[in-house]
Amino acid sequence: MKILVTGGAGFIGANFVYYELEHHHEDEIVCLDNLTYAGNLETLKEAFDNPKFRFVKGDIADREFVFDLFEKEKFDIVVNFAAESHVDRSIEDPEIFVKTNVMGTTTLLDAAKKYGVKRYHQVSTDEVYGDLPLDRTDLFFTEETPIHTSSPYSSAKAAADLFVLAYHRTYGLPVTISRCSNNYGPYHFPEKLIPLIISRALNDETIPVYGTGENVRDWLYVEDHCSAIDLIIRNGRVGEVYNIGGHNERTNLEVVKTILRALGKPETLITFVTDRKGHDLRYAIDPTKIETELGWKPKYTFDTGIPVTIDWYLNHREWWENIINGEYQNYYEKMYGNR
Ligand code: NAD
Ligand code: DAU
Repeated sequence: MKILVTGGAGFIGANFVYYELEHHHEDEIVCLDNLTYAGNLETLKEAFDNPKFRFVKGDIADREFVFDLFEKEKFDIVVNFAAESHVDRSIEDPEIFVKTNVMGTTTLLDAAKKYGVKRYHQVSTDEVYGDLPLDRTDLFFTEETPIHTSSPYSSAKAAADLFVLAYHRTYGLPVTISRCSNNYGPYHFPEKLIPLIISRALNDETIPVYGTGENVRDWLYVEDHCSAIDLIIRNGRVGEVYNIGGHNERTNLEVVKTILRALGKPETLITFVTDRKGHDLRYAIDPTKIETELGWKPKYTFDTGIPVTIDWYLNHREWWENIINGEYQNYYEKMYGNR
């Protein structure tokens, strides 16, 4: 099979490229990515050695380019990871989130429809469900939880999901959607909480914690997200949404303290800063559907995934130092300078 992976030079997309190359030697992988600030060819360095892998630079919202590519390549499966993915950036400047996350998705859907792909898979997020109260730990997001978004990022992702489902109902396009909780692991861009903590703590820099640090996220090691998507694109039922998560809820403060302890760094590095606007309180996934229907099980818990992740950052200093020493410095100053 020939699989198009969009956004494969980013964090989860690249991990998925490696997962597919390792587990499905028979398949061909084409990565389409326009290399925004979050895309990094260094991340795909080892994939370039594999004859089953190819990279194409381009924008998923560029209709002419996308249609030409689909006509030429005749993809069997499309897995759409490409997106603007950072909530804080969406609060500063929502427009690119509409262009990439919504119009990019509809462009891919139109091409998938025209060129008859056998499966279009949309990589979505638990953030489309909004948030849960902190004091109701009995509540979880199921696939039936209503869409109720908070940020420009999650609103654009939700809009894309609705288009994907509409293309199934209206045109019979064979689609699936996955909605995953927070990922962490190798190649995670250091603007996001866990790699930000690791990289700053290693440099003995302060760790900015929004608000009181009580907000809860449900953390999943990235390889477990990849194995879930792999199962969905091969065995999942067309037209269905699958939630992905492994019951690893932690407050942000717990996450920061766990990592500081593992690195032998003092808690005095923690600095409380002004809260994120519209900050979602708690995410928590009920993964019953994917577990029972597809037999998915995560390999890692938070306690086993964090040491592996820390080791990866210790052994790949050059990868993240190249990022934080570049344009990222201006980003950090802009977002945190007066916070
Ligand atoms: P990321 O920001 O690390 O990577 C995004 C990639 O998409 C980058 O390589 C970027 O260059 C590429 N891209 C952006 N705009 C593009 C465009 N117009 N055309 C082509 N490529 C473009 O993101 P990530 O954290 O790897 O997330 C991947 C997907 O998974 C996103 O759709 C995100 O919404 C979803 N998701 C992320 C998480 C998480 O915790 N990170 C959890 C659930 C779902
Ligand atoms: O739930 C899935 C989502 O997880 C994905 O859809 C998004 O693409 C991904 O970015 C992530 O969104 P979050 O907003 O939850 O992740 P982030 O790493 O930005 O923040 C995690 C928590 O940590 C959140 O409560 C905000 C807080 N935070 C974050 C940063 C960057 C801080 O306290 N300080 C920080 O400096």
